[in-house]
Amino acid sequence: MAKLTIPPPPDRRRFRQRLLTWYQRHGRDLPWRKTDDPYHILVSEIMLQQTQVDRVVPKYVEWLEKYPTMTALAGAPDAEVRATWYPLGYNIRPKRLQSIAREAVAKYGGELPSDERTLRSFKGIGAYTAGAIRSFAFRERAAILDTNVARVLFRVFVAAGDPKSHAMKRHLWDVAEALVPSRHGYDFNQALMDLGATVCVARNPKCLVCPMANGCAWRTAPAPEP
Ligand code: ADE
Repeated sequence: MAKLTIPPPPDRRRFRQRLLTWYQRHGRDLPWRKTDDPYHILVSEIMLQQTQVDRVVPKYVEWLEKYPTMTALAGAPDAEVRATWYPLGYNIRPKRLQSIAREAVAKYGGELPSDERTLRSFKGIGAYTAGAIRSFAFRERAAILDTNVARVLFRVFVAAGDPKSHAMKRHLWDVAEALVPSRHGYDFNQALMDLGATVCVARNPKCLVCPMANGCAWRTAPAPEP
């Protein structure tokens, strides 16, 4: 098994450039990309954890009409919140969302903090969600790694070994952190998700239209599916 190394700067630059150029033309127009309200970003990210984008969009809009702020969600009856979530499923998610809102109201004046440690101290905010909130709401230089992003980075930069191993996950986080640019980190992360969701998909990836082209290791060395 080859040693896992962080891509050198020229490869990082090429990846960023290709990704951002592609995103300008092919990026999806999604409602949570028109806000920097941390609570709205949190709602979108929790909804998107186990649900496809097209099912999330109408529920996201409905949810924010009903609960536009942390304070509104914190004060809502539990049963009503559960009913509003329907039919998204995985019903631990509305509970977690409401408990995050209640804690934010109790401890932080109804705001979400921006630092990673405090964000991760909330039950229901893991490494991915903390990165998404820091990048999308606070526009910090923060990495994200969800299933789609992990698949993209694995294929482009590794393409060998066990994509599901703990060591590989750790490595892919390191790669994501090395890649995220200090400017345009927001677009970069959104673009990574779009590439994973629309081109570098799990089955039958659309390599012929992929902006990474010859810059992708997996194209020449297909490995087992991530
Ligand atoms: N999946 C998780 N977060 C997402 C986002 N911000 N845009 C599109 N898909 C996502």
